Amino acid sequence: MKLTVYGGRRLFGEVTVDGAKNAALPLLAATVLTDDEVILENVPDVGDVRTMIALLESVGKRVSALDPGVYSIRTGRELVGIPPDSLVRKLRASFLLLGPLMVRLGYSQLPLPGGCPIGVRPVDLHLKGLRALGAQIESRGGFWCAAAGQLRSAEIHLDYPSVGATEQIMMTAALIPGRTVISNPAQDPEVHDLARLLIKMGAGIMIEPGRLHIEGAKTLSGTVHTVIPDRINAGTFLIAGAIAGGDVTVRRCQPLHLEALLSKLDELGLTVQEHVESVRVISDGPGSFAGGRVEARPYPGFPTDLQPQMMALLSVARGSSVIKETVWESRFAHAAELARMGAQIRLEGATAYLEGVRGLVGTQVCVNDVRAGAALTLAGLVADGATVIIDRDEHIRRGYRDLAGELHRLGAAIIEETLEEKEVVGTEAR
Ligand code: UD1
Repeated sequence: MKLTVYGGRRLFGEVTVDGAKNAALPLLAATVLTDDEVILENVPDVGDVRTMIALLESVGKRVSALDPGVYSIRTGRELVGIPPDSLVRKLRASFLLLGPLMVRLGYSQLPLPGGCPIGVRPVDLHLKGLRALGAQIESRGGFWCAAAGQLRSAEIHLDYPSVGATEQIMMTAALIPGRTVISNPAQDPEVHDLARLLIKMGAGIMIEPGRLHIEGAKTLSGTVHTVIPDRINAGTFLIAGAIAGGDVTVRRCQPLHLEALLSKLDELGLTVQEHVESVRVISDGPGSFAGGRVEARPYPGFPTDLQPQMMALLSVARGSSVIKETVWESRFAHAAELARMGAQIRLEGATAYLEGVRGLVGTQVCVNDVRAGAALTLAGLVADGATVIIDRDEHIRRGYRDLAGELHRLGAAIIEETLEEKEVVGTEAR
């Protein structure tokens, strides 16, 4: 797709956020742990979720849409443990099916997963966890093959609080009788949402600081569950209001999940008002807020998935800023594109140094990751003239149902079009 943004309009109004993509993906994967019907509500209509639904169908689940965002998922035919490569490669989170399929069927096989090109994406912690639970896992010709062997509960320490590895281990251990303990687990709200689903399905899960206890069950059953709000999309719209200037309220979000962002916006001098399920940001636009220091870290630290949007914001702050990325080592492709728009950014390893500029200049930029796409769109809101965002691989739609539409409803001048063949070819050379 191609977005054209004409900068200079302030944003006013309300946006309601959908369910979190990063919660919906593991929740969907967890449905293979039972043959019963699981009903998931508030499932966002984004590309990655559609891919995960297609993956579930490919291994034998029947997925029916009951209402917009509400899906009934149950086993439709005999389950199989080897989903098609073409689907798996589209989505990094497809790797979350390795353990659940193995624990249900005794075997599973997945090719190395795909996803956004934001850094080396190893799976060693997933494998370490599954092996500790008794799985035999080998890599054969670009595939990971898992066999159940003698499955047992275990104590597993994660060297790094990986979100995916924590979810993989939780789901697998939920079907292994006995108590599994993960120390140093990820503590993201999406991990806790998965814990809530697994508890409703019949597993025992207890969360304490630095440890997660999973009491596995012999079988798990169906239930109904509502996906938590998308904190990253909520944050994106708040940063949109902050950068463009205006008065934006994000509804149906959980302010508690956004603390790292909200306190940072407040520190920069923006007006932030928190309510029970909504947050309002009021801003005078570029130059009205100060620069600052942001370090992307595991939750409850500042989310890496808001780092690109924050870089767009800080590029038009008053004074200098420093952004350090500790989660994905090469998540800075958007810096080069922002620099093409006039941002003053210097990269040194995993740290970006910014000097705030008075304004950006519209030009053609390319997207290589969903959040970078959002960041460039936000930068376009304050750029002089037209910013043309070329998203050849539909990255933005992987995580946003209708980014352009929502910004347009808030008052942005933004047009979404399908990419023409010549534009696809024209940008490949870059
Ligand atoms: C999830 C999110 C993604 C977000 C990330 C960090 C989903 C679907 N995606 O991705 O949007 O950016 O959390 O908040 O929820 N790592 C290892 N070994 C492993 C696994 C991970 O070294 O086995 C490293 C990664 O290279 C990376 C870091 O851990 O440097 C974070 O990865 P992880 O927390 O696993 O992220 P994902 O679950 O892939």
